[in-house]
Amino acid sequence: MTYPENIFDKEEEYLLHTYKRIPIVISHGEGVYLFSVDGNKYLDFFSGLAVNALGYGNKKVIQAIEEQIEKYVHLSNYYINSSQIELAEKLVKYSGLSRVFFANSGTEAVEASLKLIRKYFGPDKKIIAFSNAFHGRTYGALSLSGKEKYKKYFSPLLPNIIRLDFNDIDQLEDNVDANTAAIYIEFIQGEGGIRVASHQFVNKIKKLRDKYGFALVVDEVQSGIGRTGKAFAFHHYDIEPDMVVAAKAIGGGLPLGGLITNKRFANVFHTGDHGSTFGGNPVACAAGLAVINEVFENGLMNGVAILGNYFKSELNLLHINYPNKVIDVRGIGFMLGVELVKSCASIVDGFRQKGILVNCTNENVLRILPPLISTKENIDHFITVFKKILNESD
Ligand SMILES: Cc1ncc(COP(=O)(O)O)c(C=O)c1O
Repeated sequence: MTYPENIFDKEEEYLLHTYKRIPIVISHGEGVYLFSVDGNKYLDFFSGLAVNALGYGNKKVIQAIEEQIEKYVHLSNYYINSSQIELAEKLVKYSGLSRVFFANSGTEAVEASLKLIRKYFGPDKKIIAFSNAFHGRTYGALSLSGKEKYKKYFSPLLPNIIRLDFNDIDQLEDNVDANTAAIYIEFIQGEGGIRVASHQFVNKIKKLRDKYGFALVVDEVQSGIGRTGKAFAFHHYDIEPDMVVAAKAIGGGLPLGGLITNKRFANVFHTGDHGSTFGGNPVACAAGLAVINEVFENGLMNGVAILGNYFKSELNLLHINYPNKVIDVRGIGFMLGVELVKSCASIVDGFRQKGILVNCTNENVLRILPPLISTKENIDHFITVFKKILNESD
């Protein structure tokens, strides 16, 4: 494929300006690497924002897509398609929950959960979400969001949603009561700066749920599908959610989201209560199945757990050795964050100039989301480059 010289000018002219683009044009990907049209090779430690669990050009994903495309690309949800059923079966198995509704994205799966909660609990009960939370950009999901900058221009948002401080046990106790319909939580906040829910906080949620019977909705859009070294991040805690929202990696790079509910909420929606033309697209489900088989069943997830610990210990050494530049290291598995003293935009540029793609979130948190196929050598290379950048930065 050829790219026009002035592709960035054309982007400026023809697209709404909602994204800050990285100033490189990618020609193709292979494994953990992306290649630009001007011949540069990049180690991609952002994975298409936690989507490309198996990196680029994975043969099993390609084969699954090709086989499904030969049969049919789309049918509509008036027909059963087998890849959708097979993927649902696996998601139920690995989440320990009961039933799945398929959407096209994380935000849509969150919408499905909100509708389900409103149907079950009625319009008046409150829904609780947390500071720094990110659940998506549609109106319902945005209403749950803890990031004011995303909501600034878009009121009115949904009523009866309140926000509490993440990990603040006292606030939780003071605000959760019999009038609570649901708590939404990312056990590891992604967009919010790789903040991990404390065990005490989650145990308190569990106790309060036993007392009041609200629904616990866990957003695993970023943290799910093996990224933390377990199938879902909630598996690091002693708790079973009522609902799990998944997306990103579950479609193998194609648009797919899923709401997974436990038995209690499995029969709330009846025919016609919710739906989607494309949700659970057969090609996306086939690709997702290939990912799930690799991650959950062929040992990849166990490797993430081991290498994630190693990666974090290496980052912790940087924290110790550069106390004036690194404030904190957080996260689990391959969902890691390094909070820096200064804004991390220039650090991210420095990485790119040295052939590594990584992200900055929440102003000063370097967000590291490697493909789950990354090796120790890839991690060591990242650490070597990071050291150089820290040495060069002021
Ligand atoms: C935790 C979380 N929830 C929801 C979403 C929204 O997902 P999507 O962009 O697929 O709509 C995201 C996206 O980054 C996310 O990280």
